[in-house]
Amino acid sequence: MGRKEAALLLLCAVAAAAVTVRAEDPYLFFTWNVTYGTISPLGVPQQAILINGQFPGPNINSTSNNNVVINVFNNLDEPLLFTWNGIQQRKNSWQDGTLGTQCPILPGTNYTYKFQVKDQIGSFFYYPTTSMHRAAGGFGGLRINSRLLIPVPYPDPEDEYTVLINDWYSKGHKALKAQLDAGHGLNRPDGVLINGKSGKEAKVKPLFTMKPGKTYKYRVCNVGLKTSLNFRIQGHQMKLVEMDGSHVVQNVYESLDVHVGQCFSVLVTANKAPKDYYIVASTRFTKQVVTATGIIRYTNGKGPASPVLPPAPVGWAWSLNQFRTFRWNLTASAARPNPQGSYHYGQINITRTIKIVNSVSRASGKLRYAINGVSHTNPATPLKLAEYYGIADKHFKYNIISDDPTTVAPTAATKTIKIAPNVMNITFRTFVEVIFENHEKSIQSWHLDGYSFFAVAIEPGRWTPEKRKNYNLLDAVSRHTIQVYPNSWAAVMLTFDNAGMWNLRSELTEQRYLGQELYISVLSPEHSLRDEYNLPETSLLCGDVASLPKPPPYSV
Ligand SMILES: *[C@@H]1O[C@H](CO)[C@@H](O)[C@H](O)[C@H]1NC(C)=O
Ligand SMILES: *[C@@H]1O[C@H](CO)[C@@H](O)[C@H](O)[C@H]1NC(C)=O
Ligand SMILES: *[C@@H]1O[C@H](CO)[C@@H](O)[C@H](O)[C@H]1NC(C)=O
Ligand SMILES: *[C@@H]1O[C@H](CO)[C@@H](O)[C@H](O)[C@H]1NC(C)=O
Ligand SMILES: *[C@@H]1O[C@H](CO)[C@@H](O)[C@H](O)[C@H]1NC(C)=O
Ligand SMILES: *[C@@H]1O[C@H](CO)[C@@H](O)[C@H](O)[C@H]1NC(C)=O
Repeated sequence: MGRKEAALLLLCAVAAAAVTVRAEDPYLFFTWNVTYGTISPLGVPQQAILINGQFPGPNINSTSNNNVVINVFNNLDEPLLFTWNGIQQRKNSWQDGTLGTQCPILPGTNYTYKFQVKDQIGSFFYYPTTSMHRAAGGFGGLRINSRLLIPVPYPDPEDEYTVLINDWYSKGHKALKAQLDAGHGLNRPDGVLINGKSGKEAKVKPLFTMKPGKTYKYRVCNVGLKTSLNFRIQGHQMKLVEMDGSHVVQNVYESLDVHVGQCFSVLVTANKAPKDYYIVASTRFTKQVVTATGIIRYTNGKGPASPVLPPAPVGWAWSLNQFRTFRWNLTASAARPNPQGSYHYGQINITRTIKIVNSVSRASGKLRYAINGVSHTNPATPLKLAEYYGIADKHFKYNIISDDPTTVAPTAATKTIKIAPNVMNITFRTFVEVIFENHEKSIQSWHLDGYSFFAVAIEPGRWTPEKRKNYNLLDAVSRHTIQVYPNSWAAVMLTFDNAGMWNLRSELTEQRYLGQELYISVLSPEHSLRDEYNLPETSLLCGDVASLPKPPPYSV
C-alpha cells in the first residue's frame, strides 16, 4: 500500500469514526451537603443523617442512560460512602460506593460520584454503606424513567410517588455501632417509618394526594436495617408493574411483602369513595407486629380514613407463594427497544455452581456473621485498588472459601468462623448458578452489586442438584435482591459480564456490618477499555496505593 492509499484509508477511518460518535447522553448534576441534624420520627429527638437538610434524602429522578454527577460534601465526623442499590455501574465498579471498591470520603472533604444509569429502568434507592450510617438516614429514592422512544407496558400515570419504608431505632447509629462492636446483636426495632414518618405524630399531614379516577405509580422500597415489611393501601388494590428494575407480569395484589433492599412499582387507581385512606407498612415474621401508617388524600376528599387497618398476612408460606406469582414480562421492552425476554437464560449451560451458606457465630466471645465460614473484614486499602495497583497479594487471598461448604466441611462451615477479606474470582462472561442456603431461623436478604440475576427458585429445605428441575427457566424476574426464608434456599443465575469488583452482601445491616459479605472480582483478561473503565482521575486514594505511581491505563 502506497503512502497516498494509506492517507486515504486513514481519512476514511477518521470520517467513519466521526459519523459513529454519538451525542453524549445528558448529564444530571447534584450537590449534596451531608450533615447531622435532629429528627423525632418516634417522638424522641435523635441524631440523624441529612442530605441538604432532608430526611429521607432527595430523590434522584433520572432517565435511562443519563450521566449522574453527585458532588458529596461530607460534613459528618466520620468517613462516608454511598452506594446506589441496584444501579449496575457497567464497567465502573470504581463508583460503587463500598469500602472494597472506594476510599471513603473523609470528614470535611468532598468527592464527586460520576456514573451512568446505562440500559436500566425502574425504582431504586441509595444509602450510606459506611459504619452503621444507614441506621441514621442518608437514604433516598432513585428513579430511572424510560426514554421517550421506548414503550412502557402501561399508560403514563397521573403522577409518581416514592415510598421508602423501613424499620427504625431511636438509639442513633453510634450507639447501635457501639453495641455491635461490643459483640452484641441489635434488639428489636423501635418503630417503622414511611418516608421518615411513623404516622403517630401529633399532626399527620397527607403524604400523597390522588385525583379521583386517576392512576398513580407508587415506587416502594424497603430501605430498612433488618425487617421484612408488608405494604398495603386501605381499600385499594395494587397492580404490580416493575420490581428491582424489570417489567413484570401485571398481577393485582392486596398487599406485598417487601424484603430489605427490594423495590416494587405498583399502579393504584383512585376509584373509591372520596376521602382519606391509610397506607400501611407492618413488620413481618416478628413476634410483635409494628406498624406505620401514612395518609393518602383524594383531592375531592370528604372525611378521615377509617381507623380499621387492612389486615397483614401471617406466616412464611404466604410470602413464598407470593414470590412464586412474580413473572418477568417477556414481551415488554426494557431500557432498549427489544423484548426483555429475548435473553434465554434457561438455555445457557451452567459453568459453575456456588453455594452461599450464611452462619452466625462468636469469635473470641463476640458476635460475627459469615459466608461459608469466613467473616469479611475490609483492609485499609480497598480490594479493587489493591488489585488494580498489582499489590493484591499483600492484602488478600482469592477464593479462601469453597464453592460448596456443605460437602467439604459441614460443621466447619457453620461452627467456626475465620475473619479475613473474603474475595472470590469468577471468570469473565461465564454463566454461574448461585445457591443461597439459609440454615438459620431468621430470614435472609442477599444483594449483588454490578448485576441483576434471574431468581429461578426459592424452596424450603436444602438444595440438591435434582432441585434444578423445579427452576423457572422461562420467565423468572431479573432482579438484584433476593430473600431466603428460614431453613430454605434460593437459586439465582447470571452471566458475569460486568468487569469489576462487586459486593455480594447480606442486606441486613447488622449481619453485613459484622462480616456477612464478600467481593467478587471479575477481571477482563484483555485489560481493555471496552470491558472496564480506567481508575477515574478524581478517585480518592488511601492505604498503600496513596503513595504508588498510577498503573498504566487500560488500552482500547
Ligand atoms: C452544609 O450545611 C452546614 C449546616 O447547615 C453548613 O454550615 C455548611 O456551610 C453547608 N456546606 C455547604 C458546602 O453547603
Ligand atoms: C422526572 O423526570 C421526568 C423526565 O425528565 C419528568 O417528566 C418528571 O416530571 C420528573 N419528575 C419529577 C418529580 O421531577
Ligand atoms: C469538591 O467540590 C469542588 C466544588 O465545590 C469541586 O471543584 C471539586 O472537584 C470537588 N472535589 C472532588 C474530589 O470531587
Ligand atoms: C407485557 O408487556 C406488553 C408489551 O408492552 C403488554 O402489552 C402486556 O400487557 C404485558 N403483559 C402482562 C401480562 O402484563
Ligand atoms: C450444553 O451442554 C450440552 C451437554 O454437555 C451440550 O450438548 C450443548 O451443546 C451445550 N450447549 C451450549 C449452548 O453450549
Ligand atoms: C483467580 O485468582 C487466582 C489467583 O490470583 C488466579 O490464579 C486465577 O487465574 C484466577 N481465576 C480467575 C477465574 O480469574
